[in-house]
Amino acid sequence: VVLILDFGGQYSQLIARRVREASVYCEILPFDVSIDRIKCLNPKGIILTGGPASVTEPGAPFCHQEVFELGVPVLGICYGMQLMSVMLGGEVARAEQREYGKTEVTLDPSSQLFYGLEEQTVSWMSHTYYVSKLPEGFRVTARSANCPVAAMENPQKKLYAVQFHPEVEHTVKGKEMLKNFLFGICGCAGDWKISSFIEDAVEDIRRRVEDASVLCALSGGVDSSVAALLVHKAVGDRLTCIFVDHGLLRKNEADQVENVFKNRFNINFIRVDAADRFLSRLAGVADPEKKRKIIGEEFIRVFEEEARKLGKIDYLVQGTIYPDVIESGTGNAAVIKSHHNVGGLPVDIEFKGIIEPLRNLFKDEVRKVGRELGLPEEIVSRQPFPGPGLAVRVLGEVTREKLEILREADHIFREEIDKAGLSKDISQYFAILTGMKTVGVMGDERTYDYVVALRAVVTTDFMTAHWARIPYDVLERVSTRIVNEVKGVNRVVYDITTKPPATIEWE
Ligand code: XMP
Repeated sequence: VVLILDFGGQYSQLIARRVREASVYCEILPFDVSIDRIKCLNPKGIILTGGPASVTEPGAPFCHQEVFELGVPVLGICYGMQLMSVMLGGEVARAEQREYGKTEVTLDPSSQLFYGLEEQTVSWMSHTYYVSKLPEGFRVTARSANCPVAAMENPQKKLYAVQFHPEVEHTVKGKEMLKNFLFGICGCAGDWKISSFIEDAVEDIRRRVEDASVLCALSGGVDSSVAALLVHKAVGDRLTCIFVDHGLLRKNEADQVENVFKNRFNINFIRVDAADRFLSRLAGVADPEKKRKIIGEEFIRVFEEEARKLGKIDYLVQGTIYPDVIESGTGNAAVIKSHHNVGGLPVDIEFKGIIEPLRNLFKDEVRKVGRELGLPEEIVSRQPFPGPGLAVRVLGEVTREKLEILREADHIFREEIDKAGLSKDISQYFAILTGMKTVGVMGDERTYDYVVALRAVVTTDFMTAHWARIPYDVLERVSTRIVNEVKGVNRVVYDITTKPPATIEWE
């Protein structure tokens, strides 16, 4: 394992992604993790990330001094380099001008970190402080016009540092530098593979669960599906999955989930048809936050009732993935996600522990595990779908009739996007039933029916998004089909708002 000590830099996750892409397993730990924990993990290398603080400020985050004395190679990046400097007796100073953006640097190719690279290259800089005096035993291995120490090293002690960000795409040779560190300097094998992850995870789960019983709340989303399959591989029939169908799923979705888990994988699968309960609790409620809250609460209630019927449960499976763990900080991460997963509230049933087999994986790795375990592509590459389901896409009060209209319109939209071969290019696309009715004309008749909105976005992180440039002829086919085939709709509009200021969902 390679450890990444996180000083709060915005690129910490990106560093981890890059290391994993090189087939080297890594974990992100808080900067102040104890030295015992580090020793216990027996890392092949340690990376110190960037961070917003400045080392000279009182209260600046420091790692344990012994990190530099373990004989394990260390790579300091940005703040990590300044920290290394100060902690080992060097100095940093405030530059007159912040160095930000693409910057030409001159490398010393005799450094093992820059092995095989040309002297001149472009790097990504973002710093105000710089190393003004090297710690003893160090030498300069890169410079830029404004930064006399753009990289430094003490190869005898296996300590390396760069002021720029090798993990960012703009650092043209950044990946090579990281690989030089991982393979050349740390001696990593680069053999971390999804298949070995599965073997280890299955072995772990088996050892932990022994003869105990395990319960999983399956949503049909990627994370809970893959988590359930892994646990099933490990403990077979001792796993039971509860799938609460709240009646707010897309067309055919519940049947599809049942078919995959019950019939194809032969998993103990309990499908609870709770549509009536959810709809009656939602009757008359138009406020989006109230709707979400009701659905969350009802979900827990239904899940608990079903779980109690099963008798004693020892473990609960959670589909927590790595970004959830990192985003919610350390320590209480699991709790935060379990709330989120089951709709915003803690489950009130007793169990011995939580099993989170995907806790250390990124989303694309979770998908790879799913594929390897034979999960069908329709679930593996499924777009995100909100927990409260179509209830937040029927604006205002949710009724059975409105859900039916939306389901049909949404189905047509998805079908046409698929037919046009666009589904891989658009990150998320769906229909919304606006509560608005407008006047139309059909044949010789006046109509007064609903407006359906189409939403389609392109995004990598779902934090910001562009609206998808769907060709007009595709939009036209969707619109024509919806007004012709879906009773109750006489107008279709396309949402051309970015996020921000809009969100992806309408509620
Ligand atoms: P917004 O609408 O906030 O959505 O731009 C960002 C992404 O999150 C999804 N989303 C949810 N996912 N539970 C979830 O698991 C929810 O309550 C929820 N609400 C929104 C949304 O579909 C989009 O991908």
